[in-house]
Amino acid sequence: MAAAGQPVLRLSGVSKAYPANGGQSVQALRSVSLEVGRREFVSLVGPSGCGKSTLLGLIAGLEEPTEGAIEIASDSDGSPGQVAYMPQRDLLLPWRSLLDNATLGAEVGGGDRAAARKRAQSLLPAFGLEGFADALPHTLSGGMRQRAALLRTVLLDREILLLDEPFGALDALTRAALQEWLLEIWERLEAAVLFVTHDVEEALWLSDRVYVMTRRPGSIQLDLPVGLPRPRTRAVRGTPAFAALKQRLLDALLADTA
Ligand SMILES: Nc1ncnc2c1ncn2[C@@H]1O[C@H](COP(=O)(O)OP(=O)(O)OP(=O)(O)O)[C@@H](O)[C@H]1O
Ligand SMILES: [Mg+2]
Repeated sequence: MAAAGQPVLRLSGVSKAYPANGGQSVQALRSVSLEVGRREFVSLVGPSGCGKSTLLGLIAGLEEPTEGAIEIASDSDGSPGQVAYMPQRDLLLPWRSLLDNATLGAEVGGGDRAAARKRAQSLLPAFGLEGFADALPHTLSGGMRQRAALLRTVLLDREILLLDEPFGALDALTRAALQEWLLEIWERLEAAVLFVTHDVEEALWLSDRVYVMTRRPGSIQLDLPVGLPRPRTRAVRGTPAFAALKQRLLDALLADTA
């Protein structure tokens, strides 16, 4: 088993075909098998359109796979396992304040609204959002919106976080800062992360393992253990070990487009 200990998430032979809508049906995923261990940080990289978002949507239960099985371990309190999902677009509701957006998931799930607000308030400094509880989304920067969406995801208190390109639309500097920040948060959270990105350096820097997908129909072509020691410093990116891992990822991605 690739993942350390019992996996919290296991996909076995998952395929997804979207039915024809006037034209041909689209086979998005073909026989994807993967695992994520407890508290493991796993990235998923692959070309645009290979089915990464489709895969997260299936794990989040938004859609049904055409074939295969998705198993999510029960939570530590014995309740059925559930995931916290941050979609590719941040989807903050424009008429709700930052704090009301952050607590949306907890409210929809029937949780205690007052408790959720209190907890969100207490987490604002850690998310770099102190003083912005009442701000509306359009008055926030792109990085702040992403952090607010992440806060909402974290507040769901799940053992598995599915993050779909959370830093995709940000400039390199903001992105680098948020990567460091995410690692700090993750180390405190005790959650497993399945992280989708196009950026191989981002994937390596953050992850314990990286799965590389093929072009559509997406399947897993490489499961690469990263093995760089933690806590990771920026300097790791300049090491030969990092360069060698990056080359392996790029080779896999490029071989597939040849
Ligand atoms: N609801 C849908 N109905 C029909 N086809 C869909 C639907 N959602 C996705 N697809 C198709 O499935 C394929 C995979 O899409 P998906 O969004 O999962 O790719 P992706 O790997 O996340 O791409 P990107 O890196 O650009 O975000 C694409 O060909 C897309 O057109
Ligand atoms: Mg996507």
